[in-house]
Amino acid sequence: MDQYRVFGNPIKHSRSPFIHQSFAQTTKQVLNYETSLVELDGFTEAVKQFICQGGKGANVTVPFKEQALAISHELSDRARLAGAVNTLSFNNGKIIGDNTDGEGLVQDLLRNNVQLENSRILLLGAGGAAKGVILPLLAQNPTSIVIANRTVSKAEALIEQFNDNRLKACGFEQTSGAIYDVIINATSASLSGKLPTIADSTVSKSTVCYDMVYGKEFTPFLNWAKSQGAIKVIDGIGMLVGQAAVSFNIWRGLKPEVETVIEQLKLSLAQE
Ligand code: ATR
Repeated sequence: MDQYRVFGNPIKHSRSPFIHQSFAQTTKQVLNYETSLVELDGFTEAVKQFICQGGKGANVTVPFKEQALAISHELSDRARLAGAVNTLSFNNGKIIGDNTDGEGLVQDLLRNNVQLENSRILLLGAGGAAKGVILPLLAQNPTSIVIANRTVSKAEALIEQFNDNRLKACGFEQTSGAIYDVIINATSASLSGKLPTIADSTVSKSTVCYDMVYGKEFTPFLNWAKSQGAIKVIDGIGMLVGQAAVSFNIWRGLKPEVETVIEQLKLSLAQE
């Protein structure tokens, strides 16, 4: 049976096995997908061992995404520009690295009928999560993407790497005076119950707000967005399933249906 893994540390609570086994069932693929807890200094060895055992591919999560990039023999553009790899494919001794996070976000936005073409996007954060979604977002032909970060110098450094005049950088306090069609929270603030302090005036009655973080409750950012009258607020559960679907397609050449899996995950989150 074809073997897949997700490498990470910690990894116990990963939902990837559930998601990929569900995809395998609905697409009638015979495969096995398991978590693999990797020692902090043992990533390269763990991947080598898995390849020797005949592993076909793997997902990579915190804190190994940069190391996964470093060990890849071939890289997609989106992985190179993200500076991180979350999907490895093993092909005749070659390690091929890709990054499906940004495409997972784009697919989830489109699934929610969010228009990206000709839209003004505000992307909050300039860390790994933000960096990973810039190229796939640009590919949707937005009018502009403003990257606002608490530390403005990081946002400025980030846009320099892309060399695209649709990208602009600013600090949170400079977000007033413009309204956005889509605001995406790619900071890790939600993980500690915090709210990025952007201007209330960025949200209009037709603004869609998206938080890459998901949980049982709405994040502070999504609660704030609702209180500002955003037309739609969306959490990151669909991005999680979306990135898995793109990985599955890379490995198996099939696009799995995501809707049911998203609903099942929402249910299980609500019961936690
Ligand atoms: P990730 O891989 O999740 O992006 P990261 O690379 O450590 O993690 O980046 C974290 C991002 O969240 C950064 O943009 C950080 O802002 P700074 O560059 O100013 O540190 C942002 N962030 C974290 N906590 C935040 C908070 N409480 N308010 C606003 N932004 C926050």
